[in-house]
Amino acid sequence: MIKLGVNIDHIATLRQTRKEGIPSIIEAAAVCEKAGADSITVHLREDRRHIQDLDVYNLRKSVKTKLNLEMSASEEIVKVALDVKPDFVCIVPEKRRELTTEGGLDVKTNKTNLANVVARLKKVGIIVSIFIAADIDQVLSCSEINADAIELHTGKYAKFYKENGLSSFEFKAEMKKILKASRETIKEGLLLNAGHGLDYDNAKRICKVADINEFNIGFSIIARAVFTGLETAVKDMKELINKG
Ligand code: PXP
Repeated sequence: MIKLGVNIDHIATLRQTRKEGIPSIIEAAAVCEKAGADSITVHLREDRRHIQDLDVYNLRKSVKTKLNLEMSASEEIVKVALDVKPDFVCIVPEKRRELTTEGGLDVKTNKTNLANVVARLKKVGIIVSIFIAADIDQVLSCSEINADAIELHTGKYAKFYKENGLSSFEFKAEMKKILKASRETIKEGLLLNAGHGLDYDNAKRICKVADINEFNIGFSIIARAVFTGLETAVKDMKELINKG
């Protein structure tokens, strides 16, 4: 069974437009868990545009499944993670002006710094994942720096699926890269997760890739929830990714 981590950042995006405390991130996490989410994911961005430090501390207390913190490797955020001790951390690249995380982390050219961050997080019992593009060199670098897991950035997969179609050269080439990187991940003994841009349409193909442990999905679920309610939106996604 593929696990589903629900990213609830955009519940906080909505809350931050008025800063009146609603909708509640704690309530949202509880509804996702009731609907079958295997973990709750939040991204504490350096600019704090949606999730705030206090949210992460409060979620640590309220989440009954697993808490997954997406974060850059900046010292300020690493310190928060070491203090909160979420179950998982996913290290992502971060640019201030991007709308969402645009690409995978370049582990290959930042091994020393990242190895140090990974070691510090693991030392307090956090399971560490790294968000990378589907690239064998990056997978091997994640293994070298002793990460526990990788999360494949499926942004290109989603873009080519939508814009070029399943039978396009671009989509097929990206799929090939995903399959190669997935096999290498398993060979290296790392957990294989995937996420970014996955929705109720494009998730059908990628959930057939062998050995995926977990998807982290946010935007499409929260967008659907506007019409169906959050519980139904999470249930629908959970059902879809496990239809096989
Ligand atoms: N995984 C990671 C590492 C991310 O940075 C994001 C976006 O915050 C997601 C998954 C979820 O992406 P989306 O909101 O497009 O489903």
